[in-house]
Amino acid sequence: MKANSNMAGGSYGTKIADLYIVHNLAAVNGISRHTYHVMPPVGWMNDPNGFGEAFGKYHLFYQFYPYGPSWDSMHWGHYTTEDFVKWKLEPTALAPDGKEDGDGCFSGSSIVKDGKLYLFYTSVSADRQTQSLAVSEDGVHFEKLGVVITGDKLPKDCLKTDFRDPKVFRRGESYYLLAGARSERNEGMLLLYRSNDLMNWGFVGAVRRDDRTTRGIYECPDLVELGGEDVLFMSPQGYKTEDWRYENVQSSIYTVGKLDVGKGTFEMLSEDEIDGGFDFYAPQTLKTRDGRTVMIAWMQMWERSFPTAKHGWVGAMILPRELSLKGGKLFQRPIREIERYRWNHVCFRDVTLGTQNEFAKVNGNKIELCFTLDLGTAERVGVKLYRKDEHDARIYYDRKKDRVVFDRSRMGIEITHDAEEKDASVRSVKVDTSENLLKMHIFLDVSSCEVFLNDGERTMTGNVYSEGDGITFFAEGGSAKIVSLDKYDIVV
Ligand code: FRU
Repeated sequence: MKANSNMAGGSYGTKIADLYIVHNLAAVNGISRHTYHVMPPVGWMNDPNGFGEAFGKYHLFYQFYPYGPSWDSMHWGHYTTEDFVKWKLEPTALAPDGKEDGDGCFSGSSIVKDGKLYLFYTSVSADRQTQSLAVSEDGVHFEKLGVVITGDKLPKDCLKTDFRDPKVFRRGESYYLLAGARSERNEGMLLLYRSNDLMNWGFVGAVRRDDRTTRGIYECPDLVELGGEDVLFMSPQGYKTEDWRYENVQSSIYTVGKLDVGKGTFEMLSEDEIDGGFDFYAPQTLKTRDGRTVMIAWMQMWERSFPTAKHGWVGAMILPRELSLKGGKLFQRPIREIERYRWNHVCFRDVTLGTQNEFAKVNGNKIELCFTLDLGTAERVGVKLYRKDEHDARIYYDRKKDRVVFDRSRMGIEITHDAEEKDASVRSVKVDTSENLLKMHIFLDVSSCEVFLNDGERTMTGNVYSEGDGITFFAEGGSAKIVSLDKYDIVV
């Protein structure tokens, strides 16, 4: 492949973006900024893109608008990491400066072939969405190769306006690509394409077609093999709420089953929501060199107000998670490399809880908290985080409902939300409490809270905007006990 000016040092649009970043970094206000989560250097971040390994490092690209804290014409920002905790900002990878992508370089994925890193992304021009390719020989500078799948390769009843988020992967000698689409009858769809060379693609089939998505498509598909099964991830817009599941206006779900790449079908065994919190979207996975499956996702949600916008930035990624499958269910654990950044360990054992228990040195807002509760007879038992005066965020078990609840209604700031969303302040999930025990593993990072329940049986992720760093445990309406409690500061 011929090197052009792009390969030498980035396109016009990426150079302007990088200059803007350098000159505006100081204008971003540190209030609410995380310390060990990926954030945009300035401006706006949404979906993770192209999460993968190349040139001896892990790469994370992301939907990026540098010029303001709001969604606008999309670039691909770029970070690299060795350990999923410390991230290096790289030059902007893609800018919407081409004929076919002048209105945005939307989400997509990456793959390495013959020592080169290829990015598949959705090129947006006016209301037309097509799939495009860019390549890099050094993992830093990218050359656009143009559109590789146009709307002409869509099934006849699909709209050319909603065809996006290519996930490329290899099976045997062939390459495959999954993309979200929408039929004229408003059915959300996932389409499968096949190629031998990454450039020429043929349609194989619609892996999924249904009318549960009421306002759009299955965004951001991802596919991974876990425990001998295919696990398909996708983020449907407007998925209908089912009891405590799918309460956000856009959901992220996984389906376990078998993908038949010959027929273009997916035989589904089970399906569930990935995270039961407020702020989790568009996950992507990669396989590490030591065989782990690691997932990252956007730690925000569409159609809400963004309190950090006034500080010059919006959006972050979750702390990456290690995935496994047990009995057809997805389990998620925090990336183990975070343990290298633990400091100031304090621990307590066997403490009976009252209505208000505080522990020496158990406070802070950049911390890891791990505890097991004996639920006793209490009606409600749990913890208040980010506490200051009457403000806090609460995670607790509610016996009557038999749910774990994440309640951020008292954090002191109201997050406005879409009319279709019931609220943006309380979420709950059901977990196994058959032994009357509950394990919570919580990460706080200035304005985020990620909760892993029962070693990853379920997770709840949410942003919390509060100045407090107090931590109070409580049991109400009966007795309960802390079996064990460990707390670490996380210092990166
Ligand atoms: C999902 C999404 C994608 C799209 C991108 C645009 O969050 O809407 O479908 O490619 O964001 O930024």
